[in-house]
Amino acid sequence: MPILAHPDVAKNAPHFTALREGRIADGWTPATFARPGADGRWGPKLAAMFSRQGPTLRELAVQALSSVEHGYDLLAPKFDHTPFRTPDTVLDAVEGALAAMGDFEHGLDLCCGTGAGAEVLRRVCRESVTGVDFSTGMLSVGRRRVRSDGQPRVAWVRGDARALPFGPAFDLVVSFGAFGHFLPGELPGLFAQVHSVLRPGGRFVFPVGAPPRPASPWYWALLGFDTAMRVRNALWRPPFVMYYRVFRFGEVRRELRRAGLSVEHRALPEFGRWPDGSPRCRLIVATRMSGTLQAPPR
Ligand SMILES: C[S@@+](CC[C@H](N)C(=O)[O-])C[C@H]1O[C@@H](n2cnc3c(N)ncnc32)[C@H](O)[C@@H]1O
Repeated sequence: MPILAHPDVAKNAPHFTALREGRIADGWTPATFARPGADGRWGPKLAAMFSRQGPTLRELAVQALSSVEHGYDLLAPKFDHTPFRTPDTVLDAVEGALAAMGDFEHGLDLCCGTGAGAEVLRRVCRESVTGVDFSTGMLSVGRRRVRSDGQPRVAWVRGDARALPFGPAFDLVVSFGAFGHFLPGELPGLFAQVHSVLRPGGRFVFPVGAPPRPASPWYWALLGFDTAMRVRNALWRPPFVMYYRVFRFGEVRRELRRAGLSVEHRALPEFGRWPDGSPRCRLIVATRMSGTLQAPPR
């Protein structure tokens, strides 16, 4: 039976709408925000994350057998109808925190995709917003979707986050939902790139969800996903690097510091706390301490 015709999926379709509208946040970093459906079951809820406008299972499979870059080119037209796009609840929480931090001039959305973070930057940066991504498909959807008239001016740049085509032009860099595409060994290079594009005192800001509690349903789901991805990458070329369990707070903090950034973190209160009192979602704020100035891209 096609998955969308399955009665459990049809019944849960409104759940997808709620995810997209940001009324619930568990489509983004599932381990952080997930709860089972009202009936206590997980399966139908997961399946219902994909609306009718989203990709078919076949399209997702073809995407997963491509490179990361080409996979996103294929997914781009339907990306905003998947749970992979950062939901508005997360974007709004980060925007609120950024607005409270002060004035920004030039913002960069790293691995911008269709521009979820660029829209946040449009509201908190006065002069310019730049989205950078290596998928031309994702960039062209972003270019069509995000308003670019007036101030701040908006630019879309094709580039690899591991070799950014900018100098130290930005006082704010944000990134949403993309760190799973980088292996732990790539973090020093990635953070060195971010450091190199920040102005002195500039900030690199991103939300990080707490990992799922051991033996919870999401713990097993993400372990299963990562294991399947490892098997796929051992057997198939080109690799598709997307792992949920590699981006760990302690290691990330250490590598940010090594890259020359001072690191603070704060709870995002919108997402609550675990029973042990730790936040379900943190905002990382990493600040560049020194360097030279350069004009942002036109
Ligand atoms: C899950 S999407 C997130 C998009 C968007 N930030 C959002 O939150 O909706 C991940 C994005 O990262 C981009 N990406 C992955 N690796 C990249 C790299 N090395 N350089 C530039 N972009 C990259 C992909 O092309 C894709 O658009």
